[in-house]
Amino acid sequence: MITVPVSIPGARYDIVVHSGLLDAVGQRVRQILPTDRAAVITDSNLVQHHLPALERALREARFEPIALTIPAGEQYKTLSMLEPIYERLVEARAERTTPIIALGGGVIGDLAGFVAATFLRGLPFVQVPTSLLAMVDASIGGKTAVNLPRAGKNFVGAFHQPRIVLIDPQVLRTLPPAELRNGLAECIKHQLIRDAEGFARLERNVERALQLEVGYLTELVGQNAAIKARVVEADPFERGERAHLNFGHTFGHAIEWASKYTVAHGEAVALGMVASSFVSTRLGMLDTGVHQRIVNLISRAGLPTRGVQAPPDLLFEAMRRDKKIAAGKARFVLLDRVGHAIIRDDVPEAVVHQAIDAIR
Ligand SMILES: NC(=O)c1ccc[n+]([C@@H]2O[C@H](COP(=O)([O-])OP(=O)(O)OC[C@H]3O[C@@H](n4cnc5c(N)ncnc54)[C@H](O)[C@@H]3O)[C@@H](O)[C@H]2O)c1
Ligand SMILES: [Zn+2]
Repeated sequence: MITVPVSIPGARYDIVVHSGLLDAVGQRVRQILPTDRAAVITDSNLVQHHLPALERALREARFEPIALTIPAGEQYKTLSMLEPIYERLVEARAERTTPIIALGGGVIGDLAGFVAATFLRGLPFVQVPTSLLAMVDASIGGKTAVNLPRAGKNFVGAFHQPRIVLIDPQVLRTLPPAELRNGLAECIKHQLIRDAEGFARLERNVERALQLEVGYLTELVGQNAAIKARVVEADPFERGERAHLNFGHTFGHAIEWASKYTVAHGEAVALGMVASSFVSTRLGMLDTGVHQRIVNLISRAGLPTRGVQAPPDLLFEAMRRDKKIAAGKARFVLLDRVGHAIIRDDVPEAVVHQAIDAIR
């Protein structure tokens, strides 16, 4: 069992990673909350795979589960999904002490977290992330949100920290392989910005992750959740170094947007990391041998390193409009070695164009 403590102003909680933990969620929640009901928000894929085990675990710990299901998919992370959920919570007589448990990937975590932040002005929130991306990234840090389809992703949201994050790597066995690879992109990102040794370990073991070896996944998730937790602790409200988590994401968001979201987030981030690492070499910050190691690992993880179809000008334009651009200058998270990120706002346009060419 791996326990990662998180401590930020106003909140202290643990991230617990343990094979088989789903069966103990009830006990764990019982230790921190003395209520008789617990609401579980989940999606249509998780209903068949893992909701029954979670409900059983809650009943064993004397919770009456209230299950609320939305259809799976990013397109349902919207305001209109919220009203029926609030109404069901009223019907089920949820109170200020009733925990909201998110059982799902990042979509469910963000939406359920927003419900927990807003219903009765705030209920206790428990994360049970089930995708690799949610385990190492979305479930940690307290950002919750829904999309406004006409304005953009995560337009309406709140900071609301979970009371505990409970991770059972065994649930990854039912995750579609493409989603596992998307999560690996964020793991590679974490190692690149913070942990050179972790990067070398992942180079030795990436196939074990792809083969769903639970022992290795437990270790990988624990280490990556810890990296995210340390970055969030250092910058809980996103004023500075949390921006390092955007490594690969300036290019990545542009690639997603220009493909009309047909390129998955993890794939776009993989391509974005190749482009950013390329920029780092062109600015003389990063060794070209290191760039090649990065490309090789991304490729072994089953993620793309080139093949972007969108016209370069469209990508360039999308990057200009990215909301993370400060005072008209594009800010890029770059690397000067494995495990160490640097923010630069002086990347010449010509180098950005070369980087786009390098991933076409
Ligand atoms: N709050 C944050 O800090 C933060 C950080 C990163 C991403 N996010 C958000 O996370 C979302 C993406 O999360 P995601 O990649 O997990 O997508 P997701 O929640 O859509 O999950 C991906 C797919 O896998 C399915 N799934 C999840 N776990 C499963 C399992 N164990 N078995 C079978 N199927 C399973 C889901 O039903 C879904 O179809 C985005 O909305 C993004 O904005 C939030
Ligand atoms: Zn990401």
